[in-house]
Amino acid sequence: MSVKRIDPVDRLIGGVTVPGDKSISHRYAILGAMAEGETTVVNFSSSADCHSTLRCLAGLGIGLEGEGSCVRITGPGWRDLQPPASTLDAGNSGTTLRLLSGVLAGRPFVSRITGDDSLVRRPMRRIIEPLSLMGARIEARQGEFPPLEIYGTHLKGVEYKLPVASAQVKSCILLAGLEATGETTVVESIPSRDHTERALPLFGVPVFRDDTGISVKGPCDLTPVTVSVPGDISSAMFWVVAALLLPGSRVRCQAVGVNPTRAALLELLEESGALIHREAPRQVGAEPVCDLVVEGDEAFVDGFPGEIGGGWIPRLIDEIPVLAVLGSRLPHGLYVRDAAELRKKESDRIHAVVENLRAVGVPADELEDGFRIPYVPEVGGGLVRTFGDHRIAMAFSVLGLISREGVELDDADCVAVSYPEFFENLQALSGRAESKSGR
Ligand code: S3P
Repeated sequence: MSVKRIDPVDRLIGGVTVPGDKSISHRYAILGAMAEGETTVVNFSSSADCHSTLRCLAGLGIGLEGEGSCVRITGPGWRDLQPPASTLDAGNSGTTLRLLSGVLAGRPFVSRITGDDSLVRRPMRRIIEPLSLMGARIEARQGEFPPLEIYGTHLKGVEYKLPVASAQVKSCILLAGLEATGETTVVESIPSRDHTERALPLFGVPVFRDDTGISVKGPCDLTPVTVSVPGDISSAMFWVVAALLLPGSRVRCQAVGVNPTRAALLELLEESGALIHREAPRQVGAEPVCDLVVEGDEAFVDGFPGEIGGGWIPRLIDEIPVLAVLGSRLPHGLYVRDAAELRKKESDRIHAVVENLRAVGVPADELEDGFRIPYVPEVGGGLVRTFGDHRIAMAFSVLGLISREGVELDDADCVAVSYPEFFENLQALSGRAESKSGR
């Protein structure tokens, strides 16, 4: 565990290239492993989470080679995946565990998949239920938690209405649907990130999308491809929010994915009049990408909504910790509701956000499904508990940058879960040399 101090800065200046998108990297790696032949993924995420996916794929007999952020994945096709010799370890990554379970459910062998102390406390009934309807048998600790023991079998297609908005559950079912006989349809009442639906056609799989849902027809073979991953918008948003709140800043985030199912916080900021320019818009694979140029000017805070809930939540779910930091700077405060799912993330993010805001002098209130943040004239600083959660660590680093006294993070190493280069990039943008403070 390493303690880290984040001192306030006047402004952020410079360019930053965030790692490849984590959600998209997981998907390209898994689809590449299901295809027969060699798939090349360029700008693969440097995150520990995506490396957990690669480690699990290696356990299923997939060939992996890499140079820098370029990963080559060679598989025999999903029909010939090998039974794992030992338990698959998804580390901290819910996406790894939930998506791979969909693949494993359709294979005629038993596999076991688990994760770290945080992941083994996260709910899995949400995937066990649909995969069981498709024919798999899955045993879980207390019927709900990892480790999961997956007794794979020949699956049949299903029509399934998601009880919670979750792209991981949607993707798990669609991946199982590729191996199943007949049509598999997922119906979602609130749209979640659609990277899987966009990725499948790149691998030669037709996807049918209409008002009634998203469908695939199985069994279906996948074609290997060369694909490139856009920069991770969830990582870029830490710099966007920090730069906006530090007058005089100018930051260019290179090649960021701006898929509308991920870009809700960006849209809310733009609609509030924040100085954000989307430059050089282009398409990378099936995903929209641009450079984001941000100028620090707090004037937008008056136009930013004071209440956020409903359909906005799934489209900014991972940005809520940094949204809370922004909330502390809004003259009318911020009320976030309909976000109970936050309690089931890498940490209980409602509790983590509120406890840490209080620790730095912002008297936020914890609600069952969100929080209320009042206006305070200035954020002081203090000790922050990251709860081992990467996004809490990075969001409260942003708070440290805009605070009066700075913050001290109790455990900063967890940023590697999604963004290993975060502190290095922070030092570069703030014009200081990187100093390591470990305890
Ligand atoms: C993800 C989906 C979201 C998100 C997570 C990554 C994905 O979770 O919070 O960080 O890659 O599909 P849910 O599927 O639980 O909404």
